[in-house]
Amino acid sequence: MKTNQSWGGRFSAQPADIVAQFTESVSYDRELYAQDIAASKAHAQMLGQQQIITKDEANALVIGLDQVLKEIEQNKFNWQTSLEDVHMNIEARLTELVGDVGKKLHTGRSRNDQVGLTFRLYVQDAIKGWQKALLNLISVLMTRAEEHTDTILPGCTHLQPAQPVSLAHYLLAYAWMFQRDYLRLTDCLNRVQISPLGAAALAGTTYPLDPESVAAAVGFQAIYANSLDAVADRDFVIETQGCAALIMLHLSRICEELILWANPNFGYLELPDTYATGSSIMPQKKNPDVAELVRGKTGRVYGTLMALLTTMKSLPLAYNRDMQEDKEGFFDTNKTVVDALKVLAGMLQAVKFCPPRMAQACQRGFINATELADYLVSKNIPFREAHHITGQCVSLAEAQGVKLEELSLESLTAICPQIGPDVYTYLDLHNAVARRETPGGTGPKSVQRQLQTLKTWIESIRPQVQS
Ligand code: ARG
Repeated sequence: MKTNQSWGGRFSAQPADIVAQFTESVSYDRELYAQDIAASKAHAQMLGQQQIITKDEANALVIGLDQVLKEIEQNKFNWQTSLEDVHMNIEARLTELVGDVGKKLHTGRSRNDQVGLTFRLYVQDAIKGWQKALLNLISVLMTRAEEHTDTILPGCTHLQPAQPVSLAHYLLAYAWMFQRDYLRLTDCLNRVQISPLGAAALAGTTYPLDPESVAAAVGFQAIYANSLDAVADRDFVIETQGCAALIMLHLSRICEELILWANPNFGYLELPDTYATGSSIMPQKKNPDVAELVRGKTGRVYGTLMALLTTMKSLPLAYNRDMQEDKEGFFDTNKTVVDALKVLAGMLQAVKFCPPRMAQACQRGFINATELADYLVSKNIPFREAHHITGQCVSLAEAQGVKLEELSLESLTAICPQIGPDVYTYLDLHNAVARRETPGGTGPKSVQRQLQTLKTWIESIRPQVQS
């Protein structure tokens, strides 16, 4: 194994093999190569502009870094564990390619601010990828909602039949959750897009750097205010990870419903063959494994959030090697979130909803009982009393084994003389849905308003997402 040339000056022996293996990160942090190179190019250019190195030297560094990028992308790069991490691997190869000038790249910089900027760029790119996938999922939910504005199913509380709602309304409930996830990420970006470069190891540096121009060159909004904080901060990853945890939570909830709805006892939907799996022993089975795995993968994303919080707790200022542990879990989360969002969007697009089964389910559980109470209120009966009378009607219907609307007018008026023949229109489930036009309600006009608001919002942010 080679001596680690970047810090080996004071050392007379190489790290023990087990130490090299234990401390290296290049086996996974090579995933940061594109961001590390982008940050280094910005740094090199700034060194040239500030005349800390010559313009020619800066150009040579930029050309060399592009060459390294090409080698990595063409899979021709020889990653070396002895060089510890992605940063030192790239710098070492750069120096091989461009000669001694390569050794000037690290002027005024430390790996501490370097890794900070590199990882911030990576987290930013991850966020943008998640936002794109969220937007696609929201669009799918909206398309499916538009197809089902007249489909009615029993809305539940406590997983017990409660009141009829439209399937469109149901699907849009999730669209709004994913919109909040999107907006949360946009807010998060304001704190991710801050460049720590210039903080150097921890105290700033004596070179006349221009950190603002590096920040601008990589497309960031601002620079750090305090060099110690700049290299010690990982809250930007933690809050992004928190956003990921919420995305997975929302995904997990919708998956849970899809799993229940695919069960023939519900029968609200049929899974497309392309998004289901079979059983090796039971020939009749069509299993919702895709939804189950999305639900299951929520665990690892929560786990990473807890790992990051725990790693960072109690760390003294400023940089500590513990912080190298911030990456693997986040890489895993990045892949998990994007895959889960994509696979769920694909599945929802292809799922076959079964409105007749939903209508059938509406026939059980007296989900129009609230309508009867509201009807009585319209006849000037105070709500509490109306609730009590309705309860008596429900128990009569239960005893007779019929639905509320199947009770005869005689038996209804025997319980409450104010009930008239118009009660039956009131009990109709479609009418029940149509009456709920309060803001955000399940009524068709309210659902159309929701769709319109979401469409306007998507149009307003589309340019951002495409950039
Ligand atoms: N691989 C390290 C990390 O990911 C880079 C920074 C190392 N800095 C240091 N002083 N050892 O955190």
